[in-house]
Amino acid sequence: MFSQTLIVLDLAWQFDGTFSTDQAFVTLATNDSYARGAMVLGKSLRNHKTAKKLVILIGPQVSAPCKRVLQRIFDEVRVVDVLDSGDTAHLSMMKRPDLGVTFTKLHCWTLTHFSKCVFMDADTLVLSNIDELFDRQELSAAPDPGWPDCFNSGVFVFCPSMETYGKLLQYSTEHGSFDGGDQGILNGYFGDWATADISKHLPFIYNLSSIAIYTYLPAFKQYGGNAKVVHFLGQTKPWSYTFDPKAKRISGSPQEATSHPSFLMDWWMLYSSAVVPLLYEQYGDQPFHSGCVEGESPSQAQSQSPQPLMSSEERKERWEQGQADYLGMDSFDNIQAKLDSFLK
Ligand code: UDP
Ligand code: GLC
Ligand code: MN
Repeated sequence: MFSQTLIVLDLAWQFDGTFSTDQAFVTLATNDSYARGAMVLGKSLRNHKTAKKLVILIGPQVSAPCKRVLQRIFDEVRVVDVLDSGDTAHLSMMKRPDLGVTFTKLHCWTLTHFSKCVFMDADTLVLSNIDELFDRQELSAAPDPGWPDCFNSGVFVFCPSMETYGKLLQYSTEHGSFDGGDQGILNGYFGDWATADISKHLPFIYNLSSIAIYTYLPAFKQYGGNAKVVHFLGQTKPWSYTFDPKAKRISGSPQEATSHPSFLMDWWMLYSSAVVPLLYEQYGDQPFHSGCVEGESPSQAQSQSPQPLMSSEERKERWEQGQADYLGMDSFDNIQAKLDSFLK
């Protein structure tokens, strides 16, 4: 009788969506820097009360203290072999020689103790509960801002299966990846995504690449408030900056920034309030190694030399190279003020 009640309760929980053991959010970190991103992502999912399990795939390079912090946040921390495309030719076209290891992402299909999962890059941040993504089918994803007939592989819904995993590896051996990373393989393998089934197109608000804010600012002003997931896509990640938690000030190399300042601030606030205390527990008074540093002190921040002034020609060139000064003179607030003055 007692066990029957338990079974009924268990089923009810799952039906209710308040407790489910066979569905999980999955991320990946092959080193301590991406591990820090994953810690923030995991905390953001917990803060928004996900009912799903949290899983992280890590490479053997992730240090023991970082691994212990990950174990505090994730339900499962699984060490996997790092797969590398070694495809320098295609990766250099994206100016991202570091992305060959994203092949490691394919391991997520081996998590067959789950029936359905949502993969999220370690450089994503959740802004509200997104458990409704589990109503979608494999392979659901949002368009890539650079080529919207491809999906971006920073957020996608999938069903673990050894058969699919084998086919993906076979596909990559036979065809390679057109971008040298996982996104090229996945778009090749799930090649009818653009045209076959619109329900597999996730709204852009589930994978808002911060890059798109600057390529279509009025749309961001119109819809950006509905964003559920922000993706810090591109070479410069939130952890590439330093943050002074007391002054709430971010510093770093703003000319390379590709993030909206307020999302960057959300990331750093969560990192400093929820992740740094866990890192302290592991590292004690020692400075955090391998990129696990809290950020510079206010005196260091003040001693930074100001950015040199730029001619408008130089500034235009930088924009064309995707290197706008997003945290400085090309900040969202400045662009908005300029737009407002045009509209007046
Ligand atoms: N990644 C990793 N180690 C690396 C590079 C990438 O673990 O050295 C993982 C991490 O989860 C990351 C994802 O692969 O978020 C994709 O890489 P990234 O986010 O840098 O690509 P982008 O979205 O900028 O194109
Ligand atoms: C992309 C995606 C990222 C992927 C990379 C390599 O831009 O955002 O998730 O790993 O390309 O294919
Ligand atoms: Mn990413």
